[in-house]
Amino acid sequence: MAKSIKFFELNTGAKIPSVGLGTWAAAPNAIGGAFTTAVKVGYRHVDCAQMYGNEKQIGVALKKVFKDGLVKREDLWITSKLCRNTDHAPEDVPQALNRTLRDLQLDYVDLYLIHWPGHDIPSTWRAMEALFDSGKARAIGVSNFSVKQLEDLLAVARVTPAVNQVKIHPVWQQPRLCEYFKSKGIHLTGYSPLGSSGTPILKNPIVTTVAEKLGKTPAQVALRWGLQMGHSVVPKSTNEARIEQNFDVCEWSIAENLFAKFSESEKMRL
Ligand code: A2P
Repeated sequence: MAKSIKFFELNTGAKIPSVGLGTWAAAPNAIGGAFTTAVKVGYRHVDCAQMYGNEKQIGVALKKVFKDGLVKREDLWITSKLCRNTDHAPEDVPQALNRTLRDLQLDYVDLYLIHWPGHDIPSTWRAMEALFDSGKARAIGVSNFSVKQLEDLLAVARVTPAVNQVKIHPVWQQPRLCEYFKSKGIHLTGYSPLGSSGTPILKNPIVTTVAEKLGKTPAQVALRWGLQMGHSVVPKSTNEARIEQNFDVCEWSIAENLFAKFSESEKMRL
C-alpha cells in the first residue's frame, strides 16, 4: 500500500509535500527512470533546477507519467530555480522561467526559487514577483539565502518568499537561520538532507544509535529528523530501493527522548 504523505502549509496557503525527490547530481540518463519510480512509490514532489542540467529529461518523464495516468499535474509539486547569476537581471528572469517551463513541458511551476543570491537582490526579486503575478510560478522563494540577504529582500518585497531552500541535516542544523526564517513565516526546505555525496552523516554515532533503536536506516532517521524540525526534505537518489526507503518517513516518529540526542551533542550544534 502507498505510504501516506505529510504536507507543510506555506504562507501562500499551498501545501508542499514534505518529502521530494532531489535531482541535483542525478545523471540525465538516470533521472527519468528515477522520477517515474518515485511517482509510483508515492512521491508527489520533485525538486529541479535549470543548473542541474537534467530538466529536459525530467520533462519527458513528466509527460509520460501524465499520459499513463499515474498522477495528475495538480497533484504534483514541482520546484525549479533561477540559474546562478547569469539570469539575475530583471529582463532575463522571465526568459529563464520560460526555458525551464519549455524543458519541463509545463505551463507553471509550483515554486520558483532564486538559486543563489546575486549582487542586486531587490531588482531580481521584483522580476520574481511579476512571475508570481503571472501565475507561471504559483509560489516564489529563495535558496542559499542568509539572514542578511533575506533582510535586504524583505526591505523591498511586496511578496514575502514562501521558502528558503538551504543545506540542513542533523550535523548542519543552522538553528539561528531556521529560527529567523520561521519568525518571518518562511518555510525551510533542506537540501542535501543526507549530507550529499559520500553521505558522511549516515555514519554519525547519534544518527546510527537512533536508527538502531528504531529499527530504521540512518538515512530514514536523518530525513525524519528534518520533518520533525518542520522542514521539507529533498533527498536525491536514482536507486529504486533507496528512493522507496527515503519515502518511508511519514508514518513513524522519533520519540522525544531520542530526538533530544540531536541537540545534546556539541557536534550537532553547528
Ligand atoms: P544514490 O543516488 O546512488 O542513492 P543528498 O540528497 O544528501 O544530496 O544525498 C544524495 C546521496 O546519497 C547520493 O549519493 C545518493 O546516492 C545517496 N543516497 C540516497 N538515499 C540514500 C539512502 N537511503 N542510503 C544511503 N545513501 C543514499
